[in-house]
Amino acid sequence: MATPILSVESVEAGYGEVRVLHGVSLHIAAGGITALLGSNGAGKTTLLRAIAGLLPASGGRVAYRGTSLHGVPASARVDQGIVLVPEGRLIFGDFTVEENLLAGAFCARARSRRAETLEEMYARFPMLRQRRRQMGGTLSGGQQQILAIARGLMSRPALLLLDEPSLGLAPMMVAELFAVVRDIRDAGITVLIVEQNVRATLELADDGFVLETGRITLRGSASALLGDDAVRQAYLGL
Ligand SMILES: Nc1ncnc2c1ncn2[C@@H]1O[C@H](COP(=O)(O)OP(=O)(O)OP(=O)(O)O)[C@@H](O)[C@H]1O
Ligand SMILES: [Mg+2]
Repeated sequence: MATPILSVESVEAGYGEVRVLHGVSLHIAAGGITALLGSNGAGKTTLLRAIAGLLPASGGRVAYRGTSLHGVPASARVDQGIVLVPEGRLIFGDFTVEENLLAGAFCARARSRRAETLEEMYARFPMLRQRRRQMGGTLSGGQQQILAIARGLMSRPALLLLDEPSLGLAPMMVAELFAVVRDIRDAGITVLIVEQNVRATLELADDGFVLETGRITLRGSASALLGDDAVRQAYLGL
């Protein structure tokens, strides 16, 4: 493959004495959607946090476009184009929709273009324009998730990390959310998505990885994973 946009090489990470990731390696080519699958507690969120720089790796290497991110703080990673939309959304409930969006454009690279990017977000998500003066906390769960993703896009990412975006959403909102993820990929942004909604995710994704208790146990094209017996048994209930 050409230089991957993201390389994770033998990464170890955890919390205090507890090691969660045991030598995780994966490479992601620019431009596609990669699914990261795994059971509860497998370490998916931990891996995304290590990539985003919110948790230090105690071993191994994370490289972005071929350059090590060792010692690069989370805010500088955002500036380089790596943006995490965290599990649980974490929007600001007492800020308006617009204030939430503008808060996403904090890095230097995005700040100078934030009026333009805000307009792009309103064009892409008319619901957010309609509700621009509404407090974030008054939105429905699905609307909050769209807001969280749009806030991430305000940083003009090249690599978007999505942690369980469909969690707790009504089925109709889930379909809408997956359409949003597809549009983001089609706009040229590389997506790494963690999801429990395995079938829909593999139908959307280009490639995928399975993480089990801190180790990658399977990798392949999304269509191959969708047909894999172990994936079907563990994640699709077949
Ligand atoms: N802040 C923390 N302090 C201590 N241990 C933690 C912390 N966060 C997560 N862990 C532990 O690390 C392990 C991996 O957690 P992680 O959140 O990465 O899993 P996950 O794959 O994202 O799971 P889920 O599907 O439930 O979101 C779990 O055993 C969890 O209990
Ligand atoms: Mg998680």
